[in-house]
Order: sequence, then structure tokens, then C-alpha cells
Amino acid sequence: MRTSVSSLSILLLYILLLSSPLPLTQCGDLVDQICKKTPFYDLCVLSLKPNSGADVKSLASKMANLVLSNVTDTLNFIQGLLKEATGTSLERPLADCAELYIPVVKYNLPQAIDALIRGRYGFANYVFSDVSKQADACEKNFSGENESPLTDRNKLISNLCDVAVAIINILQKGF
Ligand SMILES: *[C@@H]1O[C@H](CO)[C@@H](O)[C@H](O)[C@H]1NC(C)=O
Ligand SMILES: *[C@@H]1O[C@H](CO)[C@@H](O)[C@H](O)[C@H]1NC(C)=O
Repeated sequence: MRTSVSSLSILLLYILLLSSPLPLTQCGDLVDQICKKTPFYDLCVLSLKPNSGADVKSLASKMANLVLSNVTDTLNFIQGLLKEATGTSLERPLADCAELYIPVVKYNLPQAIDALIRGRYGFANYVFSDVSKQADACEKNFSGENESPLTDRNKLISNLCDVAVAIINILQKGF
């Protein structure tokens, strides 16, 4: 009788351990786990921390909104530069970049963020990949004596998009 009681309690303990929620470290390190799957770990962590209790989808949303606010900020910056660049050789490439980023801010990114919320990850993924390419295209518009005043911004936008794409991939396919 004694042995059967103790083996029963061992069994109960075992069941309890198996059914207990994930260890805390595993939850707390979700940002870390996600960021390891992206091409820019440091940028990803910087962007997503602190974020206690968030799930993958809300972290993807946070990254998506950071892309939008960065592109919006850069578009405003370009429009400011354009006012002083009239008649100079910088006017054309700056205007080209503005033309490129205006629909991104007005339509593409808001639609992608909406798609993300609705679980249409394929579309969201497509848009963020495209915006990453647009940032590169803007940068390539400057050459020779027309040194780009947007290099750091374009690079940040492109990298943030690549991080967003990697996180949406996790949403689509798991880790
Ligand atoms: C752009 O992204 C960086 C990195 O996540 C963030 O620190 C910064 O606040 C963003 N800038 C804007 C204007 O949203
Ligand atoms: C900028 O790029 C666009 C297309 O990406 C091109 O049509 C335009 O000529 C380029 N402008 C400059 C100054 O290179």
C-alpha cells in the first residue's frame, strides 16, 4: 500500500510538471528568439524591447508601425530638403525619392498593417519586401557629386523592413 501511494504521488508530480506552463525564461525571451531569426538582431531587439507579455503577432505589428513612422519621418525630411534644393542637382533625386515614398506612406504600408491584423500575412510580407527594395532604389538615385543625404535613413528603413519580413515569416511558418 505504501509503495503504491508513493508511486501514485510520483505519477501526479510527473503529470503536474508536464502540464505546467512553459518556463518563464522561454516566455520572457520571445523577443530574443524572434530576433535571432532576423537578419539584424541588434536592430530587432532595440526596436522591440521592452515588450513584456507580447506575442509574435503584436511584435510584428510593432515592427510594422516602426517602419511606417520611419518612412513618414524620412518623407518629411525629404520634403524639407527639397525646399532648399530647388535648381540644384539634388532636386531630381530627392523628388524621385519623395515620389517613391509618398504612396508607401499613404497606401502601401497602411494596407500592409491592416493585412497583418487580419492575418493576411502573404500580402503583408510582399509589401514589406517591396518597401525594402524601394529604399534601396531611392538610395541608388544619388550618385557621383550628388552624395545622398538619406543614406542612413534608407538603410534603416530597408533593414527594418527585412526584420518585419522575417517576423511575418515566423507568423506564417512558425519558428
Ligand atoms: C525608426 O526606427 C528606430 C529603430 O527601431 C526607432 O528607434 C526610431 O524611433 C524610429 N524612428 C521613428 C521616427 O519612428
Ligand atoms: C531615380 O530612379 C528612377 C527609377 O528608379 C529613375 O527613373 C530616375 O531617372 C532616377 N533619377 C536619377 C537622378 O538617377
